[in-house]
Amino acid sequence: MILLVNGPNLNLLGEREPQVYGTTTLPEIERMVEEACAAYGQKVKAIQSNYEGAILDFLQENRHEARGVLINPGALTHSSFALHDCLKALGCPVVEVHISNVHAREDWRKRDLVAPATRGQIVGLGPTGYYFGAVWLCSQESAQEQPVFDEGGAIEVAPGELQPVPGGEYEG
Ligand code: DQA
Repeated sequence: MILLVNGPNLNLLGEREPQVYGTTTLPEIERMVEEACAAYGQKVKAIQSNYEGAILDFLQENRHEARGVLINPGALTHSSFALHDCLKALGCPVVEVHISNVHAREDWRKRDLVAPATRGQIVGLGPTGYYFGAVWLCSQESAQEQPVFDEGGAIEVAPGELQPVPGGEYEG
């Protein structure tokens, strides 16, 4: 199972600052991630919450079933040591997604407390970042089942066949 976590204010995607976040809604993103994961036989359990504690509870409660976590922490990215610690406590890979390029915005958005507790980030690629993150998580050994691609489908090299890059063993 892949956990899809969206933090504060991401329920407003579609109407919130569309010049920054676009017009795709959260239900559309959740459906896209579900479909991407379904090709790998992975189910998705999703949460969006404006409450830090609810997100920590969700991650803790589902930690044994989770094969990967795809998380856009929203502004908790820049403030939450508790979320950092919680992600560190999980036994599965975590991918952080940001719709906007946080590095090209206000200075305070460049401070990311969560990133060191993740395996990697996808930043600034819009909602498509969730898709790439989902496919990467599903292609990891911990989540792997044979992907089901349509015959004649466009994907000829499954992501799991690509050479992995070193990573995930940083201190901090
Ligand atoms: C965001 C970036 C954060 O700085 C912001 O607080 C958000 C959304 C993004 O997806 O670009 O809520 O995580």
